[in-house]
Amino acid sequence: MEKDNRYLWKHKDLLDVTQLSREDTDHLLDLAASFQEINKRPVKKVPTLKGKSIILFFAENSTRTKTSFDIAGKRLSADTHALSKSGSSINKGESLKDTGQTLMAMNPDVIVIRHSSSGAAEYLARLLPCSIVNAGDGWHAHPTQALLDSYSLRQVWGPSFKGKTLLILGDIAHSRVARSNLYLLSLLGCKVRFCGPSTLLPPGIDGWNCEVFTDIEEALKGVDACMCLRLQLERQEAGLLPDLLEYSRRFCLTRERLNLANPGCKVLHPGPMNRGLEIADELADCPESLVLDQVSAGVAVRMAVLYLLATR
Ligand code: CP
Repeated sequence: MEKDNRYLWKHKDLLDVTQLSREDTDHLLDLAASFQEINKRPVKKVPTLKGKSIILFFAENSTRTKTSFDIAGKRLSADTHALSKSGSSINKGESLKDTGQTLMAMNPDVIVIRHSSSGAAEYLARLLPCSIVNAGDGWHAHPTQALLDSYSLRQVWGPSFKGKTLLILGDIAHSRVARSNLYLLSLLGCKVRFCGPSTLLPPGIDGWNCEVFTDIEEALKGVDACMCLRLQLERQEAGLLPDLLEYSRRFCLTRERLNLANPGCKVLHPGPMNRGLEIADELADCPESLVLDQVSAGVAVRMAVLYLLATR
């Protein structure tokens, strides 16, 4: 991969999409598109990051993000090393500082971290000289998820999202995906709506750059894409949702409801999905669904992120 001399990536870390300009975002998504081509070859490997070391430090569960970072690094010929909370000395009480410094002593080029505490990635970025990628920190941010969501929509809408509206539906309050997508989609020109029960809308949302609804039928009118969010029961206090059946009745995206949106409205979900709770089973696999395109885009986007950070 040759460097584009007209553009300079200036970030040591990727902690949040809010650090990205429109130029950064366009460059990263264009780069991801060129890497996606490698993912379709019979031999899916190039020597671009040969000799680079990437540590995947996942202190929270993950299927998509962890696997796709691992595959992304390996397809670029980097050495990837995975560390999970279970089976590591974090479970013996080792602090984030000591874990970070221990990993740094092994001279990685990049550490990818997922953590339940908001700010964990930024803490490591200040502490350590290697590049840090935030793979999701508490309720705060999930930058590569927002990038892969924009990549998936760009495949359908083209590079300008002007005139498009996306609805994010469900548990907004606990969602780092909602926060990161609001910034990035707005940067690309898309209007963003949020809809959920008032107990799952964050305090202060009226000041955010979005329209807010508690009625799903009203929220869906005129939208071009709808992203359902998982109910994050593990992050919720007791009492926010008295009854899951009632939640499903009021907020589950069904075919009947999707018909209220613009024709061809796309369906997204960052996963993992609770089929029948926030998204009807048939809609998860419907022709308008981009769910598996999102997963595939995740590998290409993470290849671009690792390339930009490890070769800066
Ligand atoms: N979307 C997402 O972050 O999925 P995982 O938790 O499986 O990584």
